[in-house]
Amino acid sequence: MYIYKDYFEIYGRIMQFNKNKSEPIHRWYPFVEGYSKEFIQSIINELSDTPKVCLEPFSGSGTTALELQNLNIICYSFEVNPLMYLIAKVKLRTDYTTKEFCHWVEKVKKWRNTIDTPELQSNFRTLYENNTIKKWNYDKLVGIAIEKLKNAILKISDKRYRDLLTVALASILLDVSNLYRNGKCLSYKKDWKTLKLSENDVFQRFDTKVTECFGEDIANLESTDHVLGVNVQNLYNIDAREGIETIVEDDSIDLVITSPPYLNSRDYTDTYMLELKTLGFFKEDKDIRILRERTIRSHVQIKWIDKTRLNNKLLSSTIKQLERNSKDIKAWNESIIDMVNLYFVDINKIFKVLFKKLKSGGRIYFNVSNSAYFGILINTLEICASLAEAIGFTVLEIRKARKLKTSPQQKAKIDYLLEGVIVLEKQVHYGK
Ligand SMILES: C[S@@+](CC[C@H](N)C(=O)[O-])C[C@H]1O[C@@H](n2cnc3c(N)ncnc32)[C@H](O)[C@@H]1O
Repeated sequence: MYIYKDYFEIYGRIMQFNKNKSEPIHRWYPFVEGYSKEFIQSIINELSDTPKVCLEPFSGSGTTALELQNLNIICYSFEVNPLMYLIAKVKLRTDYTTKEFCHWVEKVKKWRNTIDTPELQSNFRTLYENNTIKKWNYDKLVGIAIEKLKNAILKISDKRYRDLLTVALASILLDVSNLYRNGKCLSYKKDWKTLKLSENDVFQRFDTKVTECFGEDIANLESTDHVLGVNVQNLYNIDAREGIETIVEDDSIDLVITSPPYLNSRDYTDTYMLELKTLGFFKEDKDIRILRERTIRSHVQIKWIDKTRLNNKLLSSTIKQLERNSKDIKAWNESIIDMVNLYFVDINKIFKVLFKKLKSGGRIYFNVSNSAYFGILINTLEICASLAEAIGFTVLEIRKARKLKTSPQQKAKIDYLLEGVIVLEKQVHYGK
């Protein structure tokens, strides 16, 4: 049996991205599914030796790599979603200057006013208001303002600032749209029909964000003795299941800190669809499918045809229970059981490659939560721990971090879902 430790008090406050929303640079993009920089600091503080090289397989908006960079620690990071990759890249650079930043901001302000009113065209029918549809993501004037900003930003010849201002634009898109992030997907705001922002409203929100958030942080960065942005060179827009093996040397990593997608059928491709479409990361429907296929199989947006099965007692008995219970309960999606199975196939693959890349004595801090389907608890924490153990890791402990709400369908049978941190070690084998 695994050792559980009560970290509710310590981790309860720091396992959410919310705390980052007021932190310099971390705040450049309001990410939802991340943890705070304090989580990274707390791990570094508890280790007897400061690690030299770390690895983050699921970088998201770059919290791990950014905080490690601030602590002068190298971090390889992998992120499959091009929007998240861009956000992390922009946050990890440290070679911005206030002079250049102000120069390009002024240029964008000038150019956006001289650009002809663009035609609102998109391969995605509901992106912009038009009279053939009943609902749309952006009203006409908002769409025009966004297109003007996009075109003005595209004229910036210095890629560093083009990327930076693209992230600034990304960070206001949801706010000026008719949508909000509703846990797993995007939904229409209650009052979307009456919102009616003008072109100038959009420009103003962009300007406020640019000055109050980016401008201030760049000025601070410049005035302090900051470390070089080394971790930007080690950030890869690649599927971690493939990329780590070829990019990272064996036995070279001291520490892994990460939080994979949870087994909660949330599809990051869906959650960030608005930004991905607006900024041209997706040009047509097939691009959406391609990205979904590259993500960890924690969602049911794709019908997976992989029949791989793992030899793991707890997983097999969980799958059996799910199969039994799913006969009586009508599922909202018939691929749920396949997803559960393949999620662990993916996690197992990641653990295997991490075992190769870690030095002896190296550790993994793996932040994940349990799940529930068909009234059955999926003990993700213990299944992950047992998979890691079978590969050769020692499970030092499972830290209890937070109690997450169960979905309304599961509430009657399962009170809460434990979110935790599994601490794994590749132990030193003497006399090898
Ligand atoms: C829980 S988030 C990580 C959040 C991060 N800790 C932060 O604070 O920003 C998980 C991330 O894994 C990414 N992801 C999913 N499948 C992936 C894959 N196959 N390779 C690399 N990244 C992947 C998702 O796009 C998402 O950004």
